[in-house]
Amino acid sequence: MPRNPFDWIDEESRRRERAGLVRTLRPRPADSALLDLASNDYLGLTRRAEVTEGAVRAARRWGAGATGSRLVTGSTELHAELERELADFCGFEAALVLSSGYAANLAAVTALSGRDALVVSDAGNHASIVDGCRLSRAETAVVPHTDVEAVRKTLEAHPGRRALAVTDSVFSVDGDAAPLRGLADVCREHGAGLLVDDAHGLGVLGAGGRGALDAAGLAGEAGTVATLTLSKSLGSQGGAVLGPARVIDHLINTARTFIFDTGLAPAAAGAALAGVRVLRGEPGLAGRAREVAATLHRGLTDAGLTSARPDAAVVSVQAPSPDAALRWAADCRAAGLVVGCFRPPSVPDGISRIRLTARADLTDRQIGTALSTIIRTAPGS
Ligand SMILES: Cc1ncc(COP(=O)(O)O)c(C=O)c1O
Repeated sequence: MPRNPFDWIDEESRRRERAGLVRTLRPRPADSALLDLASNDYLGLTRRAEVTEGAVRAARRWGAGATGSRLVTGSTELHAELERELADFCGFEAALVLSSGYAANLAAVTALSGRDALVVSDAGNHASIVDGCRLSRAETAVVPHTDVEAVRKTLEAHPGRRALAVTDSVFSVDGDAAPLRGLADVCREHGAGLLVDDAHGLGVLGAGGRGALDAAGLAGEAGTVATLTLSKSLGSQGGAVLGPARVIDHLINTARTFIFDTGLAPAAAGAALAGVRVLRGEPGLAGRAREVAATLHRGLTDAGLTSARPDAAVVSVQAPSPDAALRWAADCRAAGLVVGCFRPPSVPDGISRIRLTARADLTDRQIGTALSTIIRTAPGS
């Protein structure tokens, strides 16, 4: 009898189980009573009436789907309006909306590098940047985390080469920020482009949540390009690339994840546009998200837990092992609190963590409940 061609999957699955690395889906009900500190809904916009109404209005006017790729029938006036408002809000010349932040990173990294180019990528970058580097066929130098000197040395070793340095603005595992000004200086000195993934900065950093590049005084700089997700602070779905108009034109003509992908669904575009308008109208939301993160961090460190100081709204707490992290997250859930759980291979340094995302709409009472639950269920307590 011939072997089943997928038998190897069972062996891999057993290996994952032995290592405590099994992942499972857990569909959540619409009306969950659990306190959520795991989502990326930093400003609590995903259920805000303005944002859900933005989605409904857009679906009614433009249909449920975009009907085609952006270069064929999938660009509506709504997409163009969203692009203008995103660029204007974040301080860039132009923007291009894609179907996800993942697609935006693949688009930006591949279109701005290429086979003969050098990409200098931070070791802590998001998987979508890592995949963009792989797809680009560029020579990729992975440099130690937030190490500006390593970026300088790498660029120095390749004079005259087309080069792109790429980094998350806020790293999704530990919540620390990239040294954007130092990176921009080094890139300028060496004629390299700087690409910053501001997935966790938009809505949390900068004036009124205009993002990490606004905070660093780099928004709209000639050599700087940003990618965004519309799925975190803006409460919708989708992604975007922001930069000089010639960079955006280049992406429209060359970026495969833009060209060969159906345009963003109108409902998502309408919700994201409404999200940007909420941010404009409520500039205090970003500061509140940061304040909640600082309160969580303080409470955890006062209780003796190891938590890196949050530079934005991601709060990370170390666990002694992948198993302990899993058990900790499960004990929190049993007590009514949902937290994220990060373990290898999502964390290349091998340190497992639980991760909390601070939300601007959490009440002081909810923050207190979250802290006491995490501290009470901590490994060894
Ligand atoms: C840093 C970072 N970049 C990119 C993405 C991908 O964005 P999206 O979920 O919109 O594909 C994420 C997470 O989702 C992220 O955390």
